[in-house]
Amino acid sequence: MSAEHSTLPENRNVLGLKRAVVLVGLMGAGKSTIGRRLAREIALDFIDSDAEIAQAAGCSIPDIFEVHGEAIFRDLEKRVLLRLLSGPPMVIATGGGAFVNAEIRQAVRLKAISVWLKADIDTLLERVSRRDTRPLLQTGDKRATLSRLIDERHPFYAEANIVIDSGDGAHESVVRQIVTRLPAWVEKPA
Ligand code: S3P
Repeated sequence: MSAEHSTLPENRNVLGLKRAVVLVGLMGAGKSTIGRRLAREIALDFIDSDAEIAQAAGCSIPDIFEVHGEAIFRDLEKRVLLRLLSGPPMVIATGGGAFVNAEIRQAVRLKAISVWLKADIDTLLERVSRRDTRPLLQTGDKRATLSRLIDERHPFYAEANIVIDSGDGAHESVVRQIVTRLPAWVEKPA
């Protein structure tokens, strides 16, 4: 497992969380960047599920899509996330499609605190345009694809425990908002 470790053992898990924190939201919402900073802030390990999938498969996400197809990617994504969710509390950044899967959503509901990083389409578009490697956006019209994904996926993301507007604010402010709201979920019932 390629967890990014934060801080010394005696300074860990400053909020006393008993569950993982799982970041969900569309491509470009900032799940990995925010997740990494959040993990540092609350002294938990950070894992990016896409990085974990790529490591398990021994090839990049675009290669998994191209060589094996999306269905195989989704299966790997589910297996990796179910495994991570059965481990100790950590911060997990998911890929944009993960929370659409009913089994993953159910496991997150039972075993984690979910945070939806919600961003408007212009912010998403601007951010995804910086890195042109996402298989689902290898289409002519990225705005149209993102707009469709917003329609399809927002109802699922809306099931998250905490919803944070990640569109306008600086990363620090988004992390601060999450840290402020997490303690209410420390005793989250199963
Ligand atoms: C996907 C999002 C990607 C990655 C894969 C599929 C999706 O992750 O998991 O390309 O279905 O939205 P990011 O959300 O981190 O870009």
